[in-house]
Amino acid sequence: MAFWDRPPEERLADFARLRELDRPVFFAEPRVPFVRAGKGFHALVRHADVVAASRNAKIFSSEPAATSPEPPPWLAKILGTPMVNMDDPRHARLRRIVSRAFSPKMLARIEQDIQATAARIVDEVIERGVIERGDNEHGTIRGSTDEGPRDFVEEVAARLPIAVICSMMGVPERARPYVLSRIDAMTEYSGVRGSLASPRTLRLLYGNLRAIADLHRLVARLGRARRENPADDLVSALVNANPDGERLSVRELGSFFDLLLVAGNETTRNALSHGLKLFTDHPDQRELLLADYDARIGGAIEELIRFASPIIQFRRTLKEDHELGGHPFQAGDKVVLYYLAANRDPAVFTDPDAFDITRSPNPHVGFGGPGPHLCLGANLARMELKIMFRELYGRLPELRAAGEPEYLLSSFDNGITRLPFTYRK
Ligand code: HEM
Repeated sequence: MAFWDRPPEERLADFARLRELDRPVFFAEPRVPFVRAGKGFHALVRHADVVAASRNAKIFSSEPAATSPEPPPWLAKILGTPMVNMDDPRHARLRRIVSRAFSPKMLARIEQDIQATAARIVDEVIERGVIERGDNEHGTIRGSTDEGPRDFVEEVAARLPIAVICSMMGVPERARPYVLSRIDAMTEYSGVRGSLASPRTLRLLYGNLRAIADLHRLVARLGRARRENPADDLVSALVNANPDGERLSVRELGSFFDLLLVAGNETTRNALSHGLKLFTDHPDQRELLLADYDARIGGAIEELIRFASPIIQFRRTLKEDHELGGHPFQAGDKVVLYYLAANRDPAVFTDPDAFDITRSPNPHVGFGGPGPHLCLGANLARMELKIMFRELYGRLPELRAAGEPEYLLSSFDNGITRLPFTYRK
């Protein structure tokens, strides 16, 4: 069975073995259609190595790409290069401009929107035609219908982050179903199983590229409109010059929207689903959280991100010969930073496989290591998780996962595609 198709605990056990070896292990590049197989990579699995590589961006470069496999150059020509695949100064310029999207002022403005969306999602969970199915050990189950158990991913987790990104970007309500359909076409490909060169995969890949191009067009229209008639919103702030004269081109705006969708959608959705699963599997931690939500949710979110590691890895390419943790690397070598493994490193985390919402300090690298690419949306993600779990547990106190999740086959997103749930009357 392929490594990424194996149960999470088995993969973590393999990562623990890699961490104990005296040097990072080299792996051949997986074969992907239309992408020239690279020369392979060294797996960084210790916390200290992941942190050191993230910090030293002059040597550990994000160019030509921080994702694996590297996208072919023709794709970058069509879609533009996202900032996550750039080094300074190009990266610093873009980060300066788009940081406006995540300023405390913008976040405060969006907080009410997130609250309203979270409340609507829970309203609809409650309103949806539920059928009483009798009692079990949790009481009367209102979380299942005649079609079987309901899916937390579909009804809750998948809905919030997308709505937040659309509302940040000022995508009008009427265009949102269209945006959602395009995003589905993009994510369908990322969950693909089976032979990568099969006709079905090729069809999905084509659908994925077309969906990205459609979204670019939509955002380009928004950008042009806001350039002509600026409003008090984020797109206007991004496409019109700041006091330093910097602004995004319409094309860069398209790439930024993609990046928000790719970076801010599945990550937060998966964090929500992992959260429900973890609070179900660890009822003591759930009770602890609910006993003083405001005081404990901050620590609970950091522990959830550490434990689940919604992003498994990003990659770097060495620009010069360099020694890391006593091991020599050569210019051009690739290293993959396994956040998932670093977040379970016993050299840094006491009892690393325990889910402990009071863990302190908690220097996890779930939002990336310290350095120029540290997640720009981390505070937004924290806000979404805090508001959504408050709304869920405040109104559905007996909410629980009602079975094992289905996982996405991916070496990048620690994704949950389906999670049955229940709640008591
Ligand atoms: C639980 C949720 C999230 C997780 C686990 C996560 C994880 C990460 C990680 C590991 C990186 C580092 C990339 C690198 O070092 O190469 C990153 C970067 C980034 N994230 Fe997040 N992220 C989350 C949510 C979000 C959200 C909600 C947004 C925006 C809507 C966002 C936007 C970004 C952007 C723009 C970057 C690139 C920063 C740069 O290259 O300077 N992320 N994220």
